[in-house]
Amino acid sequence: MTSQLQTQNDQYLKEFIQHYNQRTKTSKEISQKIRPFLADNKASSLFSLPLKEISYPIVGKRSSGCKLWDVDGNEYIDFIMGYGVNLFGHNPPFIKQAIEEQLEQGIHLGVQSEIVGEVAELICELTQMERVAFSNTGTEAIMTAIRIARTVTNRNKIALFSESYHGHFDGTLVEAQVVNGTLKTIPMAPGIPPNILKDVLVLEYGNPQSLDIIKNHQSELAAVLVEPVQTSNLSLQPKEFLQQLRQLTKDGGIALIFDEMVSGFRIHPGGAQAWFGIEADLATYGKVVGGGMPIGVIAGKAIYMDAIDGGMWNYGDDSYPQAKRTFFAGTYCKHPLAMAAARSVLKHLKNYGFSLQQELNRRTSDLAAELNSYFEARKLPIKIEYFGSIFGFTTSPSFSTSEDSASSNLRQLLVYYNLLYKGILLRGNGGFLSTAHTDEDIKSLIQTVQDSL
Ligand SMILES: Cc1ncc(COP(=O)(O)O)c(C=O)c1O
Repeated sequence: MTSQLQTQNDQYLKEFIQHYNQRTKTSKEISQKIRPFLADNKASSLFSLPLKEISYPIVGKRSSGCKLWDVDGNEYIDFIMGYGVNLFGHNPPFIKQAIEEQLEQGIHLGVQSEIVGEVAELICELTQMERVAFSNTGTEAIMTAIRIARTVTNRNKIALFSESYHGHFDGTLVEAQVVNGTLKTIPMAPGIPPNILKDVLVLEYGNPQSLDIIKNHQSELAAVLVEPVQTSNLSLQPKEFLQQLRQLTKDGGIALIFDEMVSGFRIHPGGAQAWFGIEADLATYGKVVGGGMPIGVIAGKAIYMDAIDGGMWNYGDDSYPQAKRTFFAGTYCKHPLAMAAARSVLKHLKNYGFSLQQELNRRTSDLAAELNSYFEARKLPIKIEYFGSIFGFTTSPSFSTSEDSASSNLRQLLVYYNLLYKGILLRGNGGFLSTAHTDEDIKSLIQTVQDSL
């Protein structure tokens, strides 16, 4: 870089930081004030030395529809949407009312929820699964689905795929890395015991060779865990691979687990299973279905779900819960507020049918088409990928390798902060469209991305 260009860049950065600090003064103050007491990796994940003075999260005060206001009174169009939770925008009246009504009744945890059966039945109806259990987060749902699969198959090993995210339970926090020229599976972070690795195979998603590896290990595998379309790689939507995986797991007596935390109820009322026309043995849900309340759902074929309670039985005859059971618990499972919110979400989805998702998916694809043609016309090495109403920006590999990774990260962070400065909240490299976003909001996103680049 010429020294003149460097000086211009430095000057730009200095001025941008000043303006950003002025606009979000209170967020910065709060961040400093709470740091001694709050251990917060969300705040530290934004840290970058050149951008240290703007390395703080925006502090939210109020939200409604697709808008969010921070503690300095700045208005944002929110495309983070609770990391995929808020399919209907923030605080939609029908969910708010359901939560208020339940709050009035009380938050009793020690007895059965009056509406849990209705919620379970609605999930079964929409997803075509046979039985359902509730946890509080997606991570717990995944952990439980794996435990169920191990119980029913009497096997320990699971297979999962690189670049998938399945929450923060030790058993899935592993990754494949090339170490000294050979591919190795390693724990993803300190504190994860390496002995977990003996029970996890990490494979490449969409690669037919992964199917061969699964076949070679079929007698050891309890489950194959799959995020049908990875949030980190939205363009990879390998229907045929999934179909083959379904056949292979069926033949090998291996549980196929669909992690539908993001795709569930968003891509289609029946999630990725319905979208790809594939029946999994177990599927996990969360996010959208909780309507903003913490929830995790484990759903599946009765033969698997019976490991929770021993299976179906009736009064008045000699039936009893016969299936082999594993351990499952949680103080807050079937939380009354989460159940009330979930019932209102599911009824809403049922009333609208697939047209709700179809419309949202179409609007996302229009958004992507418009931005992509802008990028192409200007030969910008950026692309917007999408799956239903989830979208993400990717840069072409030739572009990323033309600079070192530190400047590439810095450039990406700068675009991110620039968008924030201009009132657009994104989830790192992309976002979620909700039914609350208007055509005007989408136009604003398009315009702001164009201006910021
Ligand atoms: C695909 C997927 N699985 C599991 C999880 C974990 O869910 P939770 O954060 O509710 O524990 C997430 C969270 O983002 C996810 O995206």
